[in-house]
This record gives sequence, structure tokens and C-alpha cells, in this order.
Amino acid sequence: MAKKKVCVIKGDDASPEFVIPTVEILEGMRLDIEFVFASTGEEGIQKYGSPFSPEAKKVVDEADCTLFGSTRSMAAGLGYLRWGKKTYANFRPVNWVKGMRSPLKKPEGIDFVIIRENLEGLYPGREGDIERLEPLRLTDFVMGQVLDTSMKGKFAVRVITEENTRNIARAACNLAVKRKQKGKKGKVTVASKYNVLVQSDELFRRIVQETVRQYPELTFEQQVIDNFCQQMILNPQQFDVVVMPNEHGDVMADGAGALVGGLGLAPSACYGKDYAYFEPTHGTAPDLMGKNIVNPTAMILSAKWMLEYLGFEDAAQRLEKAVYGVYEEGKYLTPDQGGSSTTTQFCKGVKEKL
Ligand code: IPM
Ligand code: MG
Repeated sequence: MAKKKVCVIKGDDASPEFVIPTVEILEGMRLDIEFVFASTGEEGIQKYGSPFSPEAKKVVDEADCTLFGSTRSMAAGLGYLRWGKKTYANFRPVNWVKGMRSPLKKPEGIDFVIIRENLEGLYPGREGDIERLEPLRLTDFVMGQVLDTSMKGKFAVRVITEENTRNIARAACNLAVKRKQKGKKGKVTVASKYNVLVQSDELFRRIVQETVRQYPELTFEQQVIDNFCQQMILNPQQFDVVVMPNEHGDVMADGAGALVGGLGLAPSACYGKDYAYFEPTHGTAPDLMGKNIVNPTAMILSAKWMLEYLGFEDAAQRLEKAVYGVYEEGKYLTPDQGGSSTTTQFCKGVKEKL
């Protein structure tokens, strides 16, 4: 296997405090990976006068993938990694293991992945003044009434394309097949608002259904997104792979992270046809900056998905096992998980278990 190149974006505020130790853990695993740092965000402004300079873009482009911390603004590279690199499928795994501080009475067996469409839906914002919709004479499906464009206010456009939906439906099915081979359910659930958005979200629902039908080993299920939210809290163990439009997934994935113990535990992996980036679901944690107590789990588990993407399957499994081992042991947990360890101690625990 040829040497792999990973672009690392340290991010803003407390982000470097979990990115750097994660890279150190990976380096300690002695894999054939070269890490190259791109300066973006605050650091990019200081160094190149821009949060995402051509220099930073070059580092991203020349790498096989990017390990991304958290940044304060979309302008610091995240926009390019999503829309520039067309990374349409955003995987947000939700997995509880013993030692994680879930608010649920019975978190045992929670193990599912939200696949959030990453490029369209309501994002990136396409908005404007309502009066601009006048020439469209839009009617609603409930009452058939024409939209009153004399009202002062704003609209936002929400786009669902066939091609993109097919792409993420396939990504969902492929993941479900892979998981089934490891003894998991082999079920794909689509969650959207298809009962009200009878064109766009119904298109999304239908394409996922059609795609799942092409995989005889998988079962298909559909849930209206608000019911999904309820089901996720009452009985999260029922899910395997759940696929949903962008903004639904954005919201539900944060809720899902809270179910197993908070966003400090919530990794993500975003794939396009020929690029991928890996980032924690949470933000830059400015309140924790400089304290060395931020939970690095979301970042380390994102790196686990990166190792898999790069073809280091065994190393990925080892890394995940080491992180879960730290939770089971309970000796090196950070304050958000009820412990009193530092980020450094947590990472030391992971290294010991590798
Ligand atoms: C996420 C974040 C981003 C999003 C923000 C920072 C633009 O909330 O990755 O979930 O909404 O996609
Ligand atoms: Mg979000």
C-alpha cells in the first residue's frame, strides 16, 4: 500500500487541544501515514491573511483526506470540504459502551449510524425577501392557496435532488451491508417529513426505498422525522442505519449524541466520490479552552473512521477498542463523563491500551 497523506486542520479555540493529541496517538501507531498541517481559521488569518487561503486549500487537495478539528466559521475550510469536495454523505455514528455517561436508564445496545445528507436541503442558506417570490405564484399542497408575497419577511429554499439522494441512499445501504456482516441488523430507516413535504421529502423517501430494494439482504423502514425523534429517545436500540436530509440530520445527530453521553462522544465521517474528511460533531468549546479537559473521544473516533477509509482496517479496530477500553475501565474519564482526568490523561489511557 502506498504511503497515505492526511491533511490536519487544528481548528479554533479548544480544538487544537483534542486534534494534536489525536494526531500523536495516530503517529504512535506507526502506520504509513504522513500528516501535513493546513493553517485555517484564526491561524490562517495570522499566517496568510485569510481563514482559508490558497496555501491551505493546496494542502487539503494534495492529501488523501482531511482530519478536521472544529472551527468557529464555515469560512475556515469546512465549506470547501463539503461543497468544494462534494462530500455528500455525513456519517454520524451513535454507539454507547459501558462507562459513557448516558442520561438514559437503559443505554445498553444503542448502536446506530445517522447518515445525514451533507450538501443540499436547507443548507447552504439560499434566502431572500418574500417579495422576490411574486413571479412564482407558489401554492401550498394543503389548501392550494397562493402565497401572499406582499408580506414582509424572508424565505429559504430547500433543495432535494435525485442524484444526491441516490448517492447517499447507496452509501447507507453499503454501510448497512457491512454492518450486517458483523452481526448487526441490516436495516435502513429513512426519516423525513414526507407527509407534509409531499414532493421534496417524499422524493427522498421514495429513492431510499427504491435503493434499499436493490439489496435483498437489507430491510427497509420509514419514519416521519418527528416520530423518529421520539423513537430515538424511547427505543434507540431499534435502529441500525438511519438516513435523512441535511438539516434534519444536523438536528437529530446532536440529539443522538446527547443520548449516549454528549457531543464530546459524537464522531463523524463525511464522504464524497473521491474525498473524505473526519470531524467531531461538536464545536470549538471556547469555554474549555486552555484547561486541558476537553473530551477528545469524538475526534479520536472520527480518526478511527479515517483509518478505515485509508485501508488500515485492523488499526481502526484497535483504536476503537482502546477508546472503549478507557470507558470500561473508568479511570481516565474527563469531567463531562463524570471523571476528573485531563485530556492528556485520557489520551495516555488510550495509548496504553493500543
Ligand atoms: C455540524 C455543524 C455545522 C452544520 C455548522 C457548523 C455549519 O452544526 O457539522 O453539524 O450545521 O452542518
Ligand atoms: Mg450540527
